[in-house]
Amino acid sequence: MITFHKETNTITLQTQASTYQMKIDATGVLLHTYYGPHIRGGDHSRRIGREDRGFSPNPSEAGLDRTYSLDTLPQEYASSGVGDFRIPSIECDCSDGSHTVDLRYVRHSVDRGKYSLEGLPAFYAGEDEDWESLRVLLRDVCSGLEVELLYGAFPRYDLITRAVRLRNRGTAPVELTRVMSLCLDFPTLDLDFVTLGGAYGREREPVRMPLTQGVHSVGSVRGSSSHQQNPFVMLCDRAATEDSGCCWGAALVYSGNFLAQAELTQFHNTRLAMGIHPFHFRWRLEPGAAFTAPEAAMVFSREGFGGVSRRLHRAIRNNLCRGPWKEERRPILINNWEATMFHFDADKIVSIAETASKVGVEMMVMDDGWFGERNDDFRGLGDWDVNETKLPGGLGPLAERIGALGMKFGLWVEPEMVNEDSKLYRAHPDWAFQVPRRPKTRGRHQLVLDLSRQEIRKYILENLRATLNSADIAYIKWDMNRSLTDVWSATMPAHRQGEIYHRFVLGVYEILETIHREYPNLLIEGCCGGGGRFDCGMLYYAPQIWCSDNTDAIERLRIQYGTSLCYPCSTMGSHVSAVPNGLTHRCVPLHTRGVVAQAGAFGYELDLNELTGAELEEVGRQVDHFRRIWDLVALGDYYRLGDPFQEEPFYAWMHVSEDRSRALVGVVMGVGHANPIRRHLKMKGLDPQRDYVVNGEVYGGDALMYAGLALPVLDEYEAVQYDIEAI
Ligand code: DGJ
Repeated sequence: MITFHKETNTITLQTQASTYQMKIDATGVLLHTYYGPHIRGGDHSRRIGREDRGFSPNPSEAGLDRTYSLDTLPQEYASSGVGDFRIPSIECDCSDGSHTVDLRYVRHSVDRGKYSLEGLPAFYAGEDEDWESLRVLLRDVCSGLEVELLYGAFPRYDLITRAVRLRNRGTAPVELTRVMSLCLDFPTLDLDFVTLGGAYGREREPVRMPLTQGVHSVGSVRGSSSHQQNPFVMLCDRAATEDSGCCWGAALVYSGNFLAQAELTQFHNTRLAMGIHPFHFRWRLEPGAAFTAPEAAMVFSREGFGGVSRRLHRAIRNNLCRGPWKEERRPILINNWEATMFHFDADKIVSIAETASKVGVEMMVMDDGWFGERNDDFRGLGDWDVNETKLPGGLGPLAERIGALGMKFGLWVEPEMVNEDSKLYRAHPDWAFQVPRRPKTRGRHQLVLDLSRQEIRKYILENLRATLNSADIAYIKWDMNRSLTDVWSATMPAHRQGEIYHRFVLGVYEILETIHREYPNLLIEGCCGGGGRFDCGMLYYAPQIWCSDNTDAIERLRIQYGTSLCYPCSTMGSHVSAVPNGLTHRCVPLHTRGVVAQAGAFGYELDLNELTGAELEEVGRQVDHFRRIWDLVALGDYYRLGDPFQEEPFYAWMHVSEDRSRALVGVVMGVGHANPIRRHLKMKGLDPQRDYVVNGEVYGGDALMYAGLALPVLDEYEAVQYDIEAI
């Protein structure tokens, strides 16, 4: 519920477990007064102290009152250059060369439903859901710059979304150099800052740091959200754990350069800011023109990290992912990449599919190498015509052969890229990002297409349509295998080159939106050299994303754990691959590989023809089992029962149905020790009043959660899975 209280000039957003409040003060500055556990009512500005603080300047309206300073007051969206010296929300170059933005309240309105953002991904309200939206208009009187703050509140998930729309109502152009989507001020509190770091093959490793005075920053300037940092951050009580303590999670619904900063100020207040990274960002707003900053989603929980994750998981699954696949069971797929790399032909693909179909696998995905001269990664990107030497007759006949096995057919694409050794590049060398008179910077021998240009987007769309119409294709894996460099567009004037990073992302979104609209049943899996673009922006178009090229099951425990802080299991592309693993050279039992992969969008990534009969039977059992548990994994609540980054003897997790009548527990043993200690596994999320059957025995939900289940002695990397059902 969103309410305005006239006497106190406060606007309050209430969700089931949280309260968020702002106040229009006497000078029109929009103060942020509270975000935290639900409070019934009141003006929370009463807890904001005002003292004369040396070197904290006072706006002219303060007159002789030296206690009123933007430097010390919590702000809803921070101005710049007028006395708030903390992280600004907005910065610009005005036509007179000044950089000042001084925002004051103009008006606000509340509507039922959820606002939407033109050209950008955003959370949406489902049918009959009680969403409300708030719009608050602020204005910088001198430049005429208007800032509309948009809020969406969904009480059931304790979700508050935010976005910002700017419009130049002045008579001269304004150049935006920084536009944050989120600004959040906290009073004196000892908070930790939690981020997701990592690298290629080690995506989303949680980092937790106590905030000390100064600015703590994470972000990406790679053009994608990146393997190295992720656009999800959390602030939490210093004592917060997986299961208890106040936590504030924030995710940016964006797939390009981002910045997230947490600042602990001189008075030990905290400011969190999140938005497009100001790196190389400059957006020219002509008089009358508008700019929309991407959405940020916030959730609050008093139930620790797990509480934040489960709220975000539900919101992402139900109010961000779209299309039939957000609810329907996704096909269990097999992908040929790790089995063949570029070296395959139609018969090889069919031979993998044949064996896979016999054990119940439902879709064959043909990865990189099916088009142009693509026999290695030096050439071919950009030429989306079928390589007829490998696939005589094109995709149609192959898809038919796969279809005849009772399987669906899926395909890899990498539409954003071009190799210099391609027909496309030879015809249009200026279509790739490249700064004039500078040498090219290559990544995986490829260049990035300038998707800010309409004719290039058109080329990509025409090729995608031709491919999708040429055969019965149920799925595409949308890959992106390098970071952006040399970002310069041949058709933009010099003073607008600062728009290109963002226009590139808008271009990707436009293509994905068109494909989503024209092929509503097509399942899209996002990918970026593994998990380099795993973010809420992509999930709006692609309900699953390849989590990492690292398919070692033991490493995946960590990657999937870190990913699960924000993203639901249904979104994590997760496959059983061959051993020894290609990246780590580790051998993990097939059963364990299955148990770990079943905690996500399940599939296979190997040549099943190389397995023994007994192993194939095991694969058949895994496939059957996943069919029975997919709804728990995809639609249930997720509980982490440990931390794979700690040197714990085993790692476990569980999925619990919304009505708590079913659960699935996965346990994987870590490094083995002689004469091992017997462990008990304390479960979570069950109904303490109900009885459950585990392995044919009846236990109380309370017993399973508080006393725990005795685990068998397991060998190194061995796994066990428990299907749990209420009586
Ligand atoms: C990177 C992906 O993560 C892999 O799964 C595979 O599709 C390769 N690209 C193909 O080039």
